Amino acid sequence: MSEHITIHAPAKVNLALHVTGQREDGYHLLDSLVAFTEVGDRVTVETSGHDAFTLSGRFAESLAGGGDNLVIRARDALRALMADPASTPPVRIHLEKNLPIASGIGGGSADAAATLRGLMSLWRIDLPSQVLDALALSLGADVPMCLRSRPLIARGIGEALEPVALPALPILLVNPMVPMSTPEIFRRLTIKANPPLPVGLLTELARPLQALIPLRNDLQGPAEALEPSIAQICRDLLRHDARIARMSGSGATCFGVFETQEACDRAAQGFTRGRPGWFVAATATRA
Ligand code: C5P
Repeated sequence: MSEHITIHAPAKVNLALHVTGQREDGYHLLDSLVAFTEVGDRVTVETSGHDAFTLSGRFAESLAGGGDNLVIRARDALRALMADPASTPPVRIHLEKNLPIASGIGGGSADAAATLRGLMSLWRIDLPSQVLDALALSLGADVPMCLRSRPLIARGIGEALEPVALPALPILLVNPMVPMSTPEIFRRLTIKANPPLPVGLLTELARPLQALIPLRNDLQGPAEALEPSIAQICRDLLRHDARIARMSGSGATCFGVFETQEACDRAAQGFTRGRPGWFVAATATRA
């Protein structure tokens, strides 16, 4: 009987994304507070006679036919690392694509991280954490944090990770289904050296709603200039009783953080009405 393993690939939300500088190679230096949500994609890996990749889920179509999928790249990169091909036999990988692509919530990175986890388990591979993190980083700046999928502060280009204590927060994700190009948004950012996260943030996070208010996403200005609906969504989130409304990553997904799950669910109903094509997900962050 074939063995199969299913791994949850939670959405990544940049509760704050402060851009503090730029490296010589063009990558930007970040100071970002990140949480992961209950909603996400799902990756299933199973032993098979030959390699295969299948897709399902609301956003499967936007990936169909794409040979450069991060799931495939993760599989191939892990295989390339193992000297003995017999240790990485053929696999069938299924991706349930529930998150919109190019949307600032790290769907592709989460899928890559879940693929690495699933295949390491299926193939009984145990890698030192530095080796695994380096492999993850080679797939994308957000992949190491997605391997953690727990609240953290990410620094460097996103690879220097510090876990933080953050309770589960009711959160509403809203995406107007306009894909955003991450390199394009970074290119449009004129001020690269912005203030980092506040020094006292770790203790302030005991009262998360208050602590989040003064934080920023420095990519939100350039993203709003390209896509004005982002500013409107944030205004609407506040109108629907969100305590904090902000954009995640390079957009266009915006999030609202609420006092209660009920308030979050109510706001979701408001957003869904009249906007059937949008991605609207009432969920919670994982503590
Ligand atoms: O690493 P990843 O492929 O996810 O990054 C996509 C693009 O986003 C990079 O090519 C780069 O232009 C930009 N980026 C950046 N600084 C970061 C992360 C990403 O400039 N810290």
